[in-house]
Amino acid sequence: NQFCEAGIGYDEVGCGISSSSSSSTKLLIKGGTVVNAHHQEIADVYVGDDVKVIDATGKFVMPGGIDPHTHLAMEALNTESVDDFFSGQAAALAGGTTMHIDFVIPVNGSLIAGLEAYEKKAKKSCMDYGFHMVITKFDDIVSRDMEIMVKEKGINSFKFFLAYKGVLMVNDELLLEGLKRCKSLGALAMVHAENGDAVFEGQKRMIQLGITGPEGHALSRPPLLEGEATARAIRLAGFVNTPLYVVHVMSIDAMEEIAKARKSGQRVVGEPVVSGLALDDSGLWDSDFTTASKYVMSPPIRASGHGKALKDALSNGVLQLVGTDHCVFNSTQKAFGIDDFRKIPNGVNGIEERMHLVWDLMVESGQISVTDYVRVTSTEWPNVQFDESHYLASSSARIFNIYPRKGAIIAGSDADIIILNPNSTFEINARSHHSRTDTNVYEGRRGKGKVEVTIAGGRVVWENNELKVVPGSGKYIEMAPFSYLFSGIDRADASYLSSLNAPVKRFKSTT
Ligand code: URP
Ligand code: ZN
Ligand code: ZN
Ligand code: ZN
Repeated sequence: NQFCEAGIGYDEVGCGISSSSSSSTKLLIKGGTVVNAHHQEIADVYVGDDVKVIDATGKFVMPGGIDPHTHLAMEALNTESVDDFFSGQAAALAGGTTMHIDFVIPVNGSLIAGLEAYEKKAKKSCMDYGFHMVITKFDDIVSRDMEIMVKEKGINSFKFFLAYKGVLMVNDELLLEGLKRCKSLGALAMVHAENGDAVFEGQKRMIQLGITGPEGHALSRPPLLEGEATARAIRLAGFVNTPLYVVHVMSIDAMEEIAKARKSGQRVVGEPVVSGLALDDSGLWDSDFTTASKYVMSPPIRASGHGKALKDALSNGVLQLVGTDHCVFNSTQKAFGIDDFRKIPNGVNGIEERMHLVWDLMVESGQISVTDYVRVTSTEWPNVQFDESHYLASSSARIFNIYPRKGAIIAGSDADIIILNPNSTFEINARSHHSRTDTNVYEGRRGKGKVEVTIAGGRVVWENNELKVVPGSGKYIEMAPFSYLFSGIDRADASYLSSLNAPVKRFKSTT
């Protein structure tokens, strides 16, 4: 295993091979601008002794991307998403992402069985990965197993679906139990925030109106329902006093609830996904079903004003990190829903495109700095511009408690590094992408800034537009509980108790 070595100071950063045997090439990356989330500098980076030299003059040398939200080989609607832990990760590496966190779905409510299934799926991994765990029911066994996940299995986050009624959805009672359990374990609660009961009603309404095409998907679950569920989850997390992470924030409605909560000091993290930043809903109205259906995901891709507001929120620290929700089905699978949008498997691509699109949309456009780019795609570093939310501004590595092993090019970090050429261009299409799916929601897009080299675990895996990946070489990254988001929670609880100012058993019955 390879990692960055100590003792070089700020002029050079050494990423060294540990004394254990390794047959990998030793690397020296010369002359690039090394960017971490806190600052950038011109420096040489070496991985082991200087054998293979990579000239990075005029380019940016950055920590590999961390995608906090993916669904590889996920079962849905009696089928499975077509990118598995090998093809999805290979695509990720070709796009400059070197770690992802996937969602384990329980098997009949069992966390243990779910984890075993995902451990099997992940055996073919070619890059590092971690797991979140989905909670679909709550009882003593689930409560016990949540503790096992946190204390023995390296999982520090649990996701609750407030949508997908009858499948994954949980009610408020279960959500409250889950939030309390997350708090006691120091685990981060995550929510898919849409009102599933109302979505169900909205779907019936569309079908009654005879609107069966992919546009019916978006019309049945408007931003209103995302805003409601986001607000509800935030308030319940505030009531329990535990941090909350809102996945795939797709609308102004949801974003504004997060902004309000953060402004009041609540520990809420908001994750936009690249499809929400880069696309609008027009594709859903395309006359070709294959084209229209490829855009179906939940919450839906919104009308154009939402994407701009989400980008603004990302640049000013209201939202913290960009995921993808990469969950791809090919056009024959999407066609299950040709007569009824409710049967279209949900999900879009993005694991390969995220780093390029965020660069082009946010850095090339001048909206954020290169250091902020590292922050939102990989590392958290407090965004000092915004004092009131200073300790909250955050992204993958810090939120999931793996910094600085991941998300940094400093002594001791894993050697997961990308070299991005800001003067080179990228072009996206389904013919050349590395995902197994036969469509791409960014078909034909071109932009500036290209990941020319990806180094994962000290090995060059992407160079000269060629992948060199090895199934089984990816490692499972355990994530410890009680990230910085939990610091001070106990003191806040104590001051809440003292603020109650109500005597215990003030009145007593005399009978
Ligand atoms: O449409 C989506 N987002 N599919 C993946 C499952 C989820 O809701 O995250
Ligand atoms: Zn530095
Ligand atoms: Zn979701
Ligand atoms: Zn998802």
